[in-house]
Amino acid sequence: MGTSSPVQRFGNALRTHGPWRTVRILGKRLHREFFPAPVPTHPFDLEHGVDTSGLLFAEHLASGHAHDDHINAYWGTAPSGFRGILEQWQQTLAGSIQDYTFLDIGCGKGRVLMLASDAPFQRIVGVELSPALTAIAESNMAKWSSAPHRCSNIDVLNVDALAAPIPDSPVVLYIYNSFNLYVMLPLLERLQALALARSTPIDLIYATPQQAPLVDAVPGIALLAAGSIPLTPEDRTACAFSTTHLDYRIYRLPPRPKNSAHQ
Ligand SMILES: C[S@@+](CC[C@H](N)C(=O)[O-])C[C@H]1O[C@@H](n2cnc3c(N)ncnc32)[C@H](O)[C@@H]1O
Repeated sequence: MGTSSPVQRFGNALRTHGPWRTVRILGKRLHREFFPAPVPTHPFDLEHGVDTSGLLFAEHLASGHAHDDHINAYWGTAPSGFRGILEQWQQTLAGSIQDYTFLDIGCGKGRVLMLASDAPFQRIVGVELSPALTAIAESNMAKWSSAPHRCSNIDVLNVDALAAPIPDSPVVLYIYNSFNLYVMLPLLERLQALALARSTPIDLIYATPQQAPLVDAVPGIALLAAGSIPLTPEDRTACAFSTTHLDYRIYRLPPRPKNSAHQ
């Protein structure tokens, strides 16, 4: 499980992407090392005295875990995009949001944990692979919890996505394009197995859903909503990618059918 050496990573990249794509990826990495894009501090941070800004690529997020090689990057969800998506998800609910645990898989510095606490979730949990980002998220939560919020039961865990504790009660997972298919695929397999052994569904909110075909292919999963939330001018200005919208897909993995024996 140790960190792979640059030579091993080069070998992995060659096997995964082939020579041409590997050279393009290396070129891009060198370019951003020498010409890093300036990323403004987000107004959310200035307003709340927290640190959730910045764009950090995988090479700056080493944890020593084998999944380091599959991290996309750290970049916080635009608040207006998240609020819009959460509203869409709430419209799909038959029960009460107060019964739900919100789980951010790859929570980074914890911006989404703070945004989610404006809703009356039973519990909010962020899981993050990078110890450095986990420490920043914890320090943010300490500042955030000095004011009252609709959910104050918030935890940050320094664990891999595949080890995220999924409660046996109503749960919604949020994933903001955290990792590539090498983590997404086993995570989906795990969710599928868990769903068959529980009595409540597992909801999945997938923002910037680059691996959507993998999720769409999960047997029995239902796509409840999909769309694109326009970002506020404030979020657009603070964005390193000149993004104007946040794309999302909302899924529900049904539980074991009633009266069926669990294998
Ligand atoms: C695009 S950021 C999203 C941050 C946060 N969810 C948000 O929306 O503001 C993705 C995060 O996922 C984390 N990540 C990537 N792979 C992971 C893994 N296998 N387990 C846990 N976290 C992971 C990255 O370190 C990064 O902080």
